[in-house]
Amino acid sequence: MKKNTKLYETVAALMASGKGILAADESDATAGRRLAMVHLRNEAENRQDFRELLFAAQGIEEYLSGVIMYDSSIRSSTDSGIPFPDVLTAKGIVPGIKVDLGTVELHGFKGEVVSQGLDNLAERLVEYYDFGARFAKWRAVITIDDEDTPTDAAITMNAIFLARYAQLAQAAGIVPIVEPEVIYAGDHSLARAEQVTTRTLQILFQTLQNYRVDLEGLILKSSMVLAGDMNPEPSSPEQIANTTLRAFHMSVPYDVGGIVFLSGGQTPKRSTENLNAIAKLGGQPWPITFSYSRAIEEPVLMAWQGKQENIPEAQKMLLHAVKMNSLASLGKYDPNKDNKLKYE
Ligand code: G3H
Repeated sequence: MKKNTKLYETVAALMASGKGILAADESDATAGRRLAMVHLRNEAENRQDFRELLFAAQGIEEYLSGVIMYDSSIRSSTDSGIPFPDVLTAKGIVPGIKVDLGTVELHGFKGEVVSQGLDNLAERLVEYYDFGARFAKWRAVITIDDEDTPTDAAITMNAIFLARYAQLAQAAGIVPIVEPEVIYAGDHSLARAEQVTTRTLQILFQTLQNYRVDLEGLILKSSMVLAGDMNPEPSSPEQIANTTLRAFHMSVPYDVGGIVFLSGGQTPKRSTENLNAIAKLGGQPWPITFSYSRAIEEPVLMAWQGKQENIPEAQKMLLHAVKMNSLASLGKYDPNKDNKLKYE
């Protein structure tokens, strides 16, 4: 297979030490649910205002290597007419794009889903490249329900779709982030989450290799291995770190370009503490960092409340959140010293 070295340059830029990726790629419907938290209507103008606040914040480039956008935001501009991808590129931040179109039920498999969006994907990728996107994201959803769920069949179908997407992205000169999110909601144990994450990643990487995806030109976006949010047994950041890395070592080939984490519904502070504990375990075969949405955006949204006069305070919170996660990606986060703003 002919190697595309441009992909490796993008991977290296995204995985630069001490930086991470902001996932500002909520679909319009999900963005609406977030805006509702501060009693704002799900209108294009509110979505655009919030994203402008995020992307235009001064200094974020010190801590962010990339930003993932959604179809409507990659086409959107600041109030003064500068396209969002250009705002990011001017700061040296790589623009990215979410390309899956959400999940649909997998018939015959109660509660399991498959992500869609392969139709016309090759054409969409060409258009996104022209908009400036150099990496993409496809999210698959894996839910832990009982001993039989998730099924290998559902994991395999999601893995095949992820592999097809990754092939098309690489052919378009775009680095694919493959994201099999093992859902945090539930009452499952840490051990069960480890088993499911390991199985999911083993099937995924076997499939990616079968379809000859270039692993060096690809990034894995993973959930941390966490006991379900309804599980009464507490786990320490050190337990989570050890379990998560054990799952990766059992399943992720060492030539994969990098690993980034989603926050998955953990609080901002827990997401940062757990990343810090992972980084503290020392050098791994892959560069590892954050790619959070909620854990970064929610404190910013709370500070903003949709009010023009709150923008400086909200941008200060954004800078704080990305700086804390940057420190955590290096294993240097100290909550007593660093956590001065309200960031729980
Ligand atoms: O697909 C999920 C996003 O990329 C990450 O979102 O950090 O809120 O889990 P999250």
